[in-house]
Amino acid sequence: IPVAPFDYVLFGGTGDLAQRKLLPALYHRDLDGQLPDAARLIGASRAEFDADGYQAFAREALEQHVPATLLEAECLERFLARLDYVAIDAMSDDGWNDLKSMLDARDDGRIRAYYLAVGPRLFGPIAERLDKFDLIDERTRLVIEKPLGHDLDSAIALNNAVGAHFREDQVFRIDHYLGKETVQNLLALRFANVMFEPLWNAAHIDHVQITVAETVGVGDRAGYYNRSGAMRDMVQNHLLQLLCLVAMEPPASGEADSIRDEKLKVLRSLRPITGENIEATTVRAQYKAGAGPDGKVDGFLDELGEASDTETFVSLKAEIDNWRWAGVPFYMRTGKRMAMRMSEIVIQFRSVPHSVFGSGAGAPVANQLVLRLQPDEFVKQWIMIKDPGPGGMRLKHVPLDMSFAENFDERAPDAYERLLLDVIRGNQTLFMRRDEVEAAWRWIDPIFEAWEDRSQAVRSYTAGTWGPSQSIAMIERDGRTWNDGDA
Ligand code: BG6
Repeated sequence: IPVAPFDYVLFGGTGDLAQRKLLPALYHRDLDGQLPDAARLIGASRAEFDADGYQAFAREALEQHVPATLLEAECLERFLARLDYVAIDAMSDDGWNDLKSMLDARDDGRIRAYYLAVGPRLFGPIAERLDKFDLIDERTRLVIEKPLGHDLDSAIALNNAVGAHFREDQVFRIDHYLGKETVQNLLALRFANVMFEPLWNAAHIDHVQITVAETVGVGDRAGYYNRSGAMRDMVQNHLLQLLCLVAMEPPASGEADSIRDEKLKVLRSLRPITGENIEATTVRAQYKAGAGPDGKVDGFLDELGEASDTETFVSLKAEIDNWRWAGVPFYMRTGKRMAMRMSEIVIQFRSVPHSVFGSGAGAPVANQLVLRLQPDEFVKQWIMIKDPGPGGMRLKHVPLDMSFAENFDERAPDAYERLLLDVIRGNQTLFMRRDEVEAAWRWIDPIFEAWEDRSQAVRSYTAGTWGPSQSIAMIERDGRTWNDGDA
């Protein structure tokens, strides 16, 4: 079903995100018939293009980032014809009247969405000029994306700068992990089935693991990455968002704020990681030269070309101090240049209280629920059954497999496809609210302080491995092991 007519203005429309993600995502939605005839996309940046030039630019981006089998000539032409362009300067008044006349020329009551695919230092100046040039009203939405601050203070400043011109219900803070299919499936699994929720607590769950492993290095983002590191780049947003969805209480409804209220409570219940427990609960590390997906690769410091203690890997043991999760650790880890590209959530259930089948090799293995986000998407519930056949009572550990690729004959849509249209629909469920972002920083900031105060060493790991030995030791000290993608 097509969404309501809209104008999407892509600030940073000639940038990397627009090329790789935004234009392809909107093209795919057009291909699936979800864009209304009147929908228009306006690229906005400092580059001197006209509409034709921007269309040529977009054509190239699509040819590069959309599979050739899906580049249908008719749809491609229809999509490109939607594109317009305005040269604009975020830091001066240049081009803003042009944008206004372009929008006013087709003002039929349509939704207006401004996507700021630009650095965060431009969020405030752009919001201010949108206001000054009278480009904000009831139908307006603003989309912003991380880095949403470098720490709590800068996040508050950023939220204030935007909040001075937009109401919170107009601001859509993207965390693209929330647009991933498996992540939404987690909500379906938990709240559309009767069998998981009664077990979803400390009485039946031993621990949870969240892994986001990448094989890529920092590549040409070394500069940005060196200022951010794995904690700010991945944990503050993506991993904590996943943790919230696993740990939150059932919301009263599917309304955005109902869900976001519950996520916020989880963030506020995270036990602070401070100086006393920093060594036992965190490991930070950098990759050294080793193996990449296509052969030998350099270490982080060689790529950066200077000394740095920025982490390219972090693992953490988080605890949630509430009734449901008391004593259940949430182990999280993420890194660049790891052994494989693999993101998953593992819910490790407790063992049966008493084994009817004896102990040792024949004993039941504890149940495990694995939600794989990528590269392959699946949900597997591992259970014990009897090994079929006449060989006596032998137990077997098998997965109840809900693999999407096999069960649903569909292309997995990119996270942005869903999120970009949710903005037009006005649905904020999969976007972070201001207080969530700030609560996440409130938990992260003291970890940096503790690393500094205690001079915790940055460990190293060889590219192409599962991280430093200290990360493995961290979980093994608790008598548990990381699930290294072997589900
Ligand atoms: C981004 C980070 O938010 O997420 C990148 O800035 C990271 O460093 C990327 O590579 C991972 O996203 P995905 O969807 O490929 O898992």
